[in-house]
Amino acid sequence: MASQSNAIFSLLTTTTILLLLLLPFNLNSSLASSSSSEHYIIFMDSAAMPKVFSTKHHWHLAILSSLTAAGGTPASSKLIHSYSHVIDGFSCTLTSSELDALRNSDGYLHSIKDVPVKPYTTHSVEFLGLRGGGGCSASAAWEASNYGEGMIIGLIDTGVWPESRSFGDHGMGPVPARWRGECAQFNASLCNKKLIGARSFHLQGGTNSSARDDTGHGTHTASTAAGNFVAGASFFGYGPGTAKGVAPRAHVAMYKVLQADEGFASDTVKAIDQAIEDGVDVLSMSVGPGSDDIVTSLYDDPVAIATFAAMEKNVFVSMAGGNYGPDPKTLGNSSPWTLVVAAGSTDREFRAELHLGNRGVSVSGLSLYPGSYVSAQAPIVFMGDCLNTTTGESLKDKIVVCQEKNQTLGLGYQLSNLLNSSAAGAVFIVGAESLKSYVERLNMQTWLPAVFMTLEEGGEEVKKYINCSSKNEPRVARLRFGITNLDGRPAPMVAGYSSRGPSPASPYVLKPDIMGPGSLILAAWPPTVEVATVTDSNPPFYSTLYSDYKIESGTSMACPHLAGVAALVKKAHPDWSPAAIRSAMMTTADALDLSDEPIKDFGTLGKTAATGLDMGAGQVNTNKAVDPGLVYDLHASDYVSLLCAMNFTKNQIKAFTRSSSAADCSNPSLDLNYPSFIALFAKKNYSTSCQPSNLQVAEFHRTLTNVGEATACYRAVVTPLKRFVTRVVPEKLEFKHKGEKLGYKLVLERVEEEESPPADEEEEFVASGYLKWVEVGGTHVVQSPIVATNSKFEL
Ligand SMILES: *[C@@H]1O[C@H](CO)[C@@H](O)[C@H](O)[C@H]1NC(C)=O
Ligand SMILES: *[C@@H]1O[C@H](CO)[C@@H](O)[C@H](O)[C@H]1NC(C)=O
Ligand SMILES: *[C@@H]1O[C@H](CO)[C@@H](O)[C@H](O)[C@H]1NC(C)=O
Ligand SMILES: *[C@@H]1O[C@H](CO)[C@@H](O)[C@H](O)[C@H]1NC(C)=O
Ligand SMILES: *[C@@H]1O[C@H](CO)[C@@H](O)[C@H](O)[C@H]1NC(C)=O
Ligand SMILES: *[C@@H]1O[C@H](CO)[C@@H](O)[C@H](O)[C@H]1NC(C)=O
Ligand SMILES: *[C@@H]1O[C@H](CO)[C@@H](O)[C@H](O)[C@H]1NC(C)=O
Ligand SMILES: *[C@@H]1O[C@H](CO)[C@@H](O)[C@H](O)[C@H]1NC(C)=O
Repeated sequence: MASQSNAIFSLLTTTTILLLLLLPFNLNSSLASSSSSEHYIIFMDSAAMPKVFSTKHHWHLAILSSLTAAGGTPASSKLIHSYSHVIDGFSCTLTSSELDALRNSDGYLHSIKDVPVKPYTTHSVEFLGLRGGGGCSASAAWEASNYGEGMIIGLIDTGVWPESRSFGDHGMGPVPARWRGECAQFNASLCNKKLIGARSFHLQGGTNSSARDDTGHGTHTASTAAGNFVAGASFFGYGPGTAKGVAPRAHVAMYKVLQADEGFASDTVKAIDQAIEDGVDVLSMSVGPGSDDIVTSLYDDPVAIATFAAMEKNVFVSMAGGNYGPDPKTLGNSSPWTLVVAAGSTDREFRAELHLGNRGVSVSGLSLYPGSYVSAQAPIVFMGDCLNTTTGESLKDKIVVCQEKNQTLGLGYQLSNLLNSSAAGAVFIVGAESLKSYVERLNMQTWLPAVFMTLEEGGEEVKKYINCSSKNEPRVARLRFGITNLDGRPAPMVAGYSSRGPSPASPYVLKPDIMGPGSLILAAWPPTVEVATVTDSNPPFYSTLYSDYKIESGTSMACPHLAGVAALVKKAHPDWSPAAIRSAMMTTADALDLSDEPIKDFGTLGKTAATGLDMGAGQVNTNKAVDPGLVYDLHASDYVSLLCAMNFTKNQIKAFTRSSSAADCSNPSLDLNYPSFIALFAKKNYSTSCQPSNLQVAEFHRTLTNVGEATACYRAVVTPLKRFVTRVVPEKLEFKHKGEKLGYKLVLERVEEEESPPADEEEEFVASGYLKWVEVGGTHVVQSPIVATNSKFEL
């Protein structure tokens, strides 16, 4: 389409009046068809491909040619991508009548309208239990995997900044001989032994752009997964130290599908297709649909279908869950064969200090103000709620203290007032709830030098100081920024923004799977993409800042951490399936925080413990993940049994398996051999006398594979689950050799509440607990989250 309008345009500039007279015709028809055209992903049954076509690509072109009358848009410009591995079919531009005609073509199976995708936006590595590098001793996981050496992590993202020091190749091993990818959309000299591939997929508008990162997101995620060691990295002094990815010796391949943070599922699917072809070991996808485009059927989700093929080819796929929490059922990515990642906070806090007067008294609060700031003494004044600063007293060059009165009117208005009054700095005394929400929503990064604190943690002291000063001692203070504190507690917590389960498309498998560090993560950044705006005393009174490293938050940041961990586990256990690697990470995750309390949910401002619907198995523990003891394994046929039990037809299942042989639905089962449990109950109806008893019992069958010592004995321990009695049969598993598989059954049985309920309908509940297989005389604990609920989570 684009090439044809270009052709018309060039005619306009070069030809005669005769042609110009003819043009309105062409132009109209061209505009009419383009305005009603849409992008589709078409699934075909390749068994129907006539023998005359040498490749599927030729067949796809022929199908498209047959749709248009002579003189119409050429088929080659309708076709966006032919897919090779992940989907039997292609993506294209069609009018609705062309789509209708296509539906009658031989071999047509299914079509999905293309949907937009978007990005889900050095301490975090230590926080995962990884230390070492730069001369220090390596952690167990880095030791077991040699820092992920030789693994290839592909990222589907916004591109990469190849010159970043995080993609330097010092200390890297050679590019693996099996690698078939290339540095296609760069000057190839920009690639090296660290960055071994870079491609760009953005062909809908006819553009074929550089794989260079234009927004920073992909540079950040890629360096989080596998950035090399870079000493002296920080964000304007915050989070100083040696920056490094989770798998610092793994290779990186970038598949750019987002330009200016915008892209489409059709390009994402093509990128997955190419990554499989190129030979990546792990794929990290910090992209997904917008909140209005979340797909509620796996069959209508082209990216879910494409990742099925990746799983079949043993490519491990880590996907960001999305940032649509804390409401339930808000996962943007949640397919059963991928790892779906929730985001959590870390114990790292960024702070500023306020020194009061000359008395050596100082208080501190949260801040990520990045500007250069002279910590000179300045007068300090209290301005109440700062909603009216035009009281006569000039605030110019003063540090202004504002106390929050009404959360709704909020910070934006206060800041705007202070900016207009040319204040030198600000101290915001806010409630605990606001403080937490500013951490998540603003990263505490303000134009004005500002620090945030509660009344209890400093605000009272500040107010007292201002109020008690006498005439002979003027009220002055100094601000000092750039302080990093590693003792933030409680930590980690599930981020409020992190999308929650159950999975909208497959509620029978508990999602998300696991949590990784997502809030305030420091990683590499393109030096050309601005990182902050701060006030300036010279016109235009603000300036933009640039940096090679940036602090960002989102499930986008959590996902590449888990991709890095998967690379370490895969390096240590090259023969493990993606399901076994996922199991190893899930069953060794921590459900307790650094204070040994259950991990809290930021979504309830830390008032409640997080459940499996918020964080899956809990916070990833990298060192344990390389040595899980037992794993729950799964293969493509198990997922097919799940699709069968979800009542997909054999033709629908063909979209996933691309196999011309019929799907084997002889053993349909919603009870996947998964390292977590979710039991969905119907609400009890107390006005009906008899309850179908099977609604009140959930039974799960699981098989564990011994990947630890040859002989090992495990005992089952189930934490109490409110409203349920639980049974595990057998309670003991004795493994006699490595690779041995033993089965067990977990039964959840509802117990009657003692008092009869007042209402007809039962109240909604979410019961949560854990099943642990504890090694007798050993150290392994194989832990799975359990969620039992009667809620349908209707929003
Ligand atoms: C895109 O650009 C690359 C490098 O410039 C080229 O090799 C490739 O063929 C182009 N692809 C398309 C579809 O134009
Ligand atoms: C690629 O980069 C190298 C080294 O910077 C340079 O010598 C060469 O001219 C570049 N090639 C192109 C096609 O830009
Ligand atoms: C702000 O306070 C001053 C002085 O008390 C008053 O004159 C002015 O009307 C107030 N402005 C607003 C918008 O309330
Ligand atoms: C806060 O301000 C909003 C908007 O003006 C108002 O609707 C709300 O009632 C106020 N809340 C309190 C607690 O004053
Ligand atoms: C600050 O000044 C700008 C520009 O003059 C104005 O638009 C804005 O409303 C002012 N803010 C406040 C809170 O008065
Ligand atoms: C200052 O002290 C007076 C008298 O104790 C009190 O009424 C007032 O609220 C105080 N002001 C501040 C800002 O704390
Ligand atoms: C599949 O269909 C059967 C028969 O209609 C029904 O009993 C079952 O609940 C359906 N399963 C799912 C997961 O929807
Ligand atoms: C509960 O059962 C009664 C009697 O069968 C029925 O009228 C009512 O609609 C049911 N309520 C719900 C929520 O299903």
